[in-house]
Amino acid sequence: MEMAEIGATPAGGVHRLALTDQDRSTRDLFATWCEAAGLTISVDRMGSMFARRAGTDVDAPPVFAGSHLDSQPLGGRFDGPLGVLAALEAVETMNDQGIETRHSVEVVNWTNEEGSRFAPAMISSGVFAGVFEIDFAHAIEDASGATIVGELERIGYSGSEPVGGRPVRASFELHIEQGPLLERSGTAVGVVTGVQGARWYDVRIEGEVTHAGPFPMSERKDPVRGTARVLDRLFELVRTLDDEGKFTVGEIHASPGSRNTMPGQIDFTVDIRHPDDDALTGLDEKFRALVSAETEAMGLSAQIDQIWHSPTTRFAEECVDAVRAAAVTVGLSHMDVFSGAGHDSVYMQRVCPTGMIFVPCEGGLSHAEAENITQKDAEAGANVLMHSVLGVAGVAGAAG
Ligand code: GLV
Ligand code: MN
Ligand code: MN
Repeated sequence: MEMAEIGATPAGGVHRLALTDQDRSTRDLFATWCEAAGLTISVDRMGSMFARRAGTDVDAPPVFAGSHLDSQPLGGRFDGPLGVLAALEAVETMNDQGIETRHSVEVVNWTNEEGSRFAPAMISSGVFAGVFEIDFAHAIEDASGATIVGELERIGYSGSEPVGGRPVRASFELHIEQGPLLERSGTAVGVVTGVQGARWYDVRIEGEVTHAGPFPMSERKDPVRGTARVLDRLFELVRTLDDEGKFTVGEIHASPGSRNTMPGQIDFTVDIRHPDDDALTGLDEKFRALVSAETEAMGLSAQIDQIWHSPTTRFAEECVDAVRAAAVTVGLSHMDVFSGAGHDSVYMQRVCPTGMIFVPCEGGLSHAEAENITQKDAEAGANVLMHSVLGVAGVAGAAG
């Protein structure tokens, strides 16, 4: 709740876009708490923070536990911070209980998970996993032209550690479910088996700019009309295809953007997702065909630029089992779930065995100021996270 005061919004959420002054404040606060817990902090060249609690075996690779502190615009308090701060709580509990682990444990804050200021999402874990080149990531610009590397330097989080290229034993992430299944079924913990695939696009529909008053309707090349038609058909397509595909337009911009000018150009973002990779590919093809057919018929032109593809991920059995076993140890009800949202764990699964834990969130809502969880759910998630980590990191002196 103290962290949620940074970038707090009137409706109870937070507005803390990646690498803004608010993000710097959360990082500073997180670092203060990590130092108080006796952890050693390192920052890599993508600004991701790793707070290490040393294990007894100096040669054993670390176990990661973490998530992200950046938020959506007018976002919630828990998407991200829950996973980072529960990991910190877990190592503080190990300190309090005098528990030593064989593998070191690193509490991680990944830079720019959300991808709303700098697209795409999960960029720094992606660089860590070798999916993106660091130069590509550093050069990504926000809407005003500020770059990731420039903003890392400005807020003082352009670290010196190389990004990735080091062994990690396993990685765990606690997160709110961001959907309604756990709450509706009265289940305490979701054992996450994987994450559905996603594709992001920038779409532009172009017509011919003209005056709002005198120019005849029948002769207009209106990209707003084209966009309305295209979107109506696309929503219908995805809704009727199956129960699992998702289609979201999160941003729409008209240019030049004046009340009494019919715009010449509409730019919008598209996010499509599906748990089945073949179905996602099919959706991609149908989407492209529909946009070009409809705009052509209206004398408009269309451009589709795919800026990201994150295929469906399945988490390592070892970590899924560790999470399930932890839920049993803590005595909580649990069910297997598949994540609808993307997470840094998707890219960590390419580096090491990875697992995720979900806890219910009120009404299944997230990416919204209304996002809420109970203290009981947070505690349950933190306990399962700690026991998952201990299961793999190994308690020094314990048998097995
Ligand atoms: C991350 O929040 C996502 O887009 O799923
Ligand atoms: Mn998140
Ligand atoms: Mn999110």
